[in-house]
Amino acid sequence: MSNVTVSDPQYSADGKPAGRLLEVDDLYVEFRTRDGVAKVINGVSYHVNAGETLAVLGESGSGKSVTAQTIMGILDMPPGYVTGGEIRFHGDDMLKMNAEQRRKIRGKGIAMVFQDALSALNPVFTVGFQIGEQFRIRQGMSRRDAKRRAIEMLDQVKIPHAKQRVSEFPHQFSGGMRQRVMIAMSLALDPEVLIADEPTTALDVTVQAQIMDLLAELQRERQMGMILITHDLGVVADVADRIAVMYAGRIVEEASVHDLYARPVIRTPKDC
Ligand SMILES: Nc1ncnc2c1ncn2[C@@H]1O[C@H](COP(=O)(O)OP(=O)(O)O)[C@@H](O)[C@H]1O
Ligand SMILES: [Mg+2]
Repeated sequence: MSNVTVSDPQYSADGKPAGRLLEVDDLYVEFRTRDGVAKVINGVSYHVNAGETLAVLGESGSGKSVTAQTIMGILDMPPGYVTGGEIRFHGDDMLKMNAEQRRKIRGKGIAMVFQDALSALNPVFTVGFQIGEQFRIRQGMSRRDAKRRAIEMLDQVKIPHAKQRVSEFPHQFSGGMRQRVMIAMSLALDPEVLIADEPTTALDVTVQAQIMDLLAELQRERQMGMILITHDLGVVADVADRIAVMYAGRIVEEASVHDLYARPVIRTPKDC
């Protein structure tokens, strides 16, 4: 492994001791299917603190999304099984929590933006209803107030004419605008950690850059911890503080972006 030490900021923006916000520690996940057992996560450890962006890179199938799903508590179980490790949020192991405790963290503690907004959004409800749902259900807001907050959220993700668009359905939005809707939804409860799993993969190149700029801006403004899963090295250089490279369910390289780009070559797993 890299012998580069990356010092964590001692204090977060609000002056509180930063501590470890979210820590994946020696995580093991396997899928048990009729064809046998596939051990897909084999001792993954990474962490993110308030106000920083960790980029997770790695080839397709290396376990980036399964790790994210396990953090969010949305892994398909079965066939998925967590067979080892801890996922600590503010020091508490979420894997030991009951469903109710997990539910409280989802959305408010940790939220996620998915790759494909079209399948993540419900086609039969307006975007305003879907964003507002969180305010209604989690905060007991009235329908009217929830709609007002939904409009504010659409404004925050820079969707023009938010007041009108709040009453439209997902299919009435372009791919980029739809992704903004999903970002608005994920940020509704002001999460401490945002996990973005290849959030721009389905978009045109120019739109990709706009969405990435937006995410980086929102992360800075809100001092969120962000886990950005991507395969775009250009994006990593621009927005990430640290980078973790995954291969076959393990982290094979971890460094600050500064150190990584100071070295000419990313080492391959067999060097480690
Ligand atoms: N629900 C599932 N059932 C069985 N295998 C799965 C399931 N989800 C993911 N996998 C397998 O786990 C491995 C890691 O997948 P994934 O985390 O999605 O990779 P990526 O790094 O591309 O996000 C892959 O081999 C994938 O086929
Ligand atoms: Mg994936």
